[in-house]
Amino acid sequence: MELKRYIDEKKKIIEDFLSEYFRDPIEPGIFYEAMKYSVFAGGKRLRPALCITAYEACGGSGLDILPQAAALELIHTYSLIHDDLPAMDDDDLRRGKPTNHKVYGEAIAILAGDGLLTEAFHMFSRSDKVSQTALLTAIKELSSAAGLYGMVAGQAMDIISEGKSADSKTLEFIHRNKTAALIRASVRLGGILSETDEQTLDAINQYGENIGLAFQVVDDILDIIGTTEELGKPKGSDDSKHKMTYPALYGIERSRDIASELISNALKAIQPLQDRAFWLKEIASYLLKRTN
Ligand code: IPE
Ligand code: IPE
Ligand code: MG
Ligand code: MG
Ligand code: MG
Repeated sequence: MELKRYIDEKKKIIEDFLSEYFRDPIEPGIFYEAMKYSVFAGGKRLRPALCITAYEACGGSGLDILPQAAALELIHTYSLIHDDLPAMDDDDLRRGKPTNHKVYGEAIAILAGDGLLTEAFHMFSRSDKVSQTALLTAIKELSSAAGLYGMVAGQAMDIISEGKSADSKTLEFIHRNKTAALIRASVRLGGILSETDEQTLDAINQYGENIGLAFQVVDDILDIIGTTEELGKPKGSDDSKHKMTYPALYGIERSRDIASELISNALKAIQPLQDRAFWLKEIASYLLKRTN
C-alpha cells in the first residue's frame, strides 16, 4: 500500500468517529456550528494518524483508541482557531476556508476553541479497551504537552518574540513547544496506551521529538515557498508578523538541511522497532516532501 492510501484510510476512520461524536446538536446552535466548522474544514489529521500508527507499531489495533486519537485532533483544531485570532497571528484563511472568527466573530471563535479543548479530555477519557492506569498516564502526558510544558507555552513565546531578532535558543524553544510537543505526545500516547516497554517508548519518543521539530521547520519554509492555494492558509503570514522562524535565522537552504537531519535522526531512532516501524518511517519521510 502506498502512504497516501494508508493516511486516507486513517483519516476516514477518524472523521467518521468525529462525525458520529458531533452528530447531536449542542446549545446554543452557533457555538455548535462554530466548533463543527473548524473540525470538519479539512486538515491532514496527522496527529491522530501518528497516534494510531505508533499504537499499531506496538501491536495494537487502531480501532481500539479512536477516542484518544480523535481527541488530539480536537486539541489541534482548537489551537488553530486561537492561533488565527486577531490578537495572535491575525489570519483570514485556514484549511482553505475563512478562519473561524471571520465567520462567527471573535467571541464565538474563542469559545469554540475553549469548547474543543475541554471536550477533548472528555472524549479522551472514554474507553473500554485501554487499561485505566494507561489512560490516566496518557491524560497526564497529553495535558502537559498541550499546555504549560508544551503547546501553550510555545505559543506564548512565539507571540512575545514577534519583531525580535532571532536567536537559536528562543527559536528552538518556540518550535519544540508550540508544535513538536503535541506531535511527540501523539506518538508517545500510542506507546503509552499500548503499555509498551520502556525501550520502545524511548525510541518512539526520540522519533516524535525529531519529526515534531522538523514539522515546524518545514511549516516555516512552506510559509515562504508554498502557495496560499495549496497551503489553505495565507503564504507570507510569518514575515508580515515578523515571526521568529528557522528561515529568518538560518535561511531557506540551511533550514531544509536542518529538517532533513532531524528526519534522519527520527528514522535512526526507530530502527530498533524493525518492520513494525514501517509506516512511522514512511510518514517521517513524507514530512520532508509535503507541500501543505
Ligand atoms: C498547522 O498544522 C499548525 C502547525 C503546528 C504548524 P497542520 O499543518 O497539521 O494543519 P492541518 O491540521 O493539516 O490543517
Ligand atoms: C502554530 O504555528 C502552532 C500552533 C500551535 C497552532 P504557526 O502559527 O506557524 O501555524 P500556522 O502556520 O498558522 O498553521
Ligand atoms: Mg502562530
Ligand atoms: Mg499561525
Ligand atoms: Mg506557520
